[in-house]
Amino acid sequence: MKKRINLCLVGFGNAGKAFCQMLNEKNHEVELMTGYEIKVVAIATRSKGCHIDNEGLDLAKVISDVEKNGKFDEKNPKIMNLDTLSLIKESKADVMIELSALSIEDGQPAIGHIETAFSQNMHVITANKGPIAWAYKRLMKEANEKNLQFLYETTVMDGTPIFNLVKYTLPGCRVESFKGILNSTTNFIIEEMEKGNSYDEAIKEAQRRGFAEANPELDVEGWDAAAKTTALVNVLMDAELTPLDIQREGIENIEVKDIEKALKDNKKIKLFCEGYRENGKVYGSVKPTLVDKSDLFATVDATSSVLSITTDLMGEVVILERNPEIQQTAYGIYSDLLTLLNHL
Ligand SMILES: NC(=O)c1ccc[n+]([C@@H]2O[C@H](COP(=O)([O-])OP(=O)(O)OC[C@H]3O[C@@H](n4cnc5c(N)ncnc54)[C@H](OP(=O)(O)O)[C@@H]3O)[C@@H](O)[C@H]2O)c1
Repeated sequence: MKKRINLCLVGFGNAGKAFCQMLNEKNHEVELMTGYEIKVVAIATRSKGCHIDNEGLDLAKVISDVEKNGKFDEKNPKIMNLDTLSLIKESKADVMIELSALSIEDGQPAIGHIETAFSQNMHVITANKGPIAWAYKRLMKEANEKNLQFLYETTVMDGTPIFNLVKYTLPGCRVESFKGILNSTTNFIIEEMEKGNSYDEAIKEAQRRGFAEANPELDVEGWDAAAKTTALVNVLMDAELTPLDIQREGIENIEVKDIEKALKDNKKIKLFCEGYRENGKVYGSVKPTLVDKSDLFATVDATSSVLSITTDLMGEVVILERNPEIQQTAYGIYSDLLTLLNHL
């Protein structure tokens, strides 16, 4: 007899749609690999409505409705006018997947979504880094006390194994420090400026190519990078920081002449995210940094990301994500789902 696992999704934007697409294609494989039949029984959004069906939603139709009409099919009687917390409770799902937009100020309302899911004894997967940057320890403690799983691989470098790399493949190692290029929008903008474009032209090009938001402040002021840095120090280095504790400098004051000077000196400017220990305390920083053109970090171009982790026993380990698309985000959520099913 197949065992069934019901999912409730909060958020159905780029990541939610891509994950559902992948799940639809791989559902049979998941059953073969894990013995579980997976159904999405509820989806909450901010403006497209809420969708609940205990039999399981027709994912292909839901994706097509949203892509064609920008909302769920209003003729469907299972479209409801519920607020997100009520939908999480009503769904009676086994797993809640948090895919709502990042709120850098406090990680809300996503933290509340996760707490509500825990209160209903649901496992949680989040791609939203807000809760990991603002409340990782508290949420993980709550999950452990209730014997629930709380997974978050997608929050840094999409599906590239970062947290799993350390947890499962570097047993016994203590992370002493890390440094990485983790924000693809700023990496792309700096690269455009290296080609001679002004800062404003580079932002416009990033927006035209879909890498930058209409309001790019979160990226160019270093906030997105600070949230990722916080997630890394909190999980890998046992810290309890928030994005406000990160020494943060964005790229908004970099001028073409700075980039030209760097190139003339055989260097490049990269927005570095770092975590380190000093006198028993953990610190995080985000700042534009000069690197030699021959350095591995200088070769991380366009929307690629890289993270170097220095440990006590294994020294420095480096992992690179080359030119990710939305599929790599979907894979992060899908891989967390497989991890979760394998640990049930
Ligand atoms: N896209 C990526 O490549 C990527 C990679 C790694 C991590 N992430 C993270 O994954 C999350 C989702 O990303 P995305 O690209 O899918 O974002 P997105 O396209 O902006 O979609 C966000 C979704 O969240 C919904 N939402 C916002 N507030 C909500 C609330 N209070 N209750 C219910 N739904 C709510 C929105 O509803 P409406 O549709 O009605 O607006 C939308 O469906 C973000 O936290 C992001 O940082 C994304």
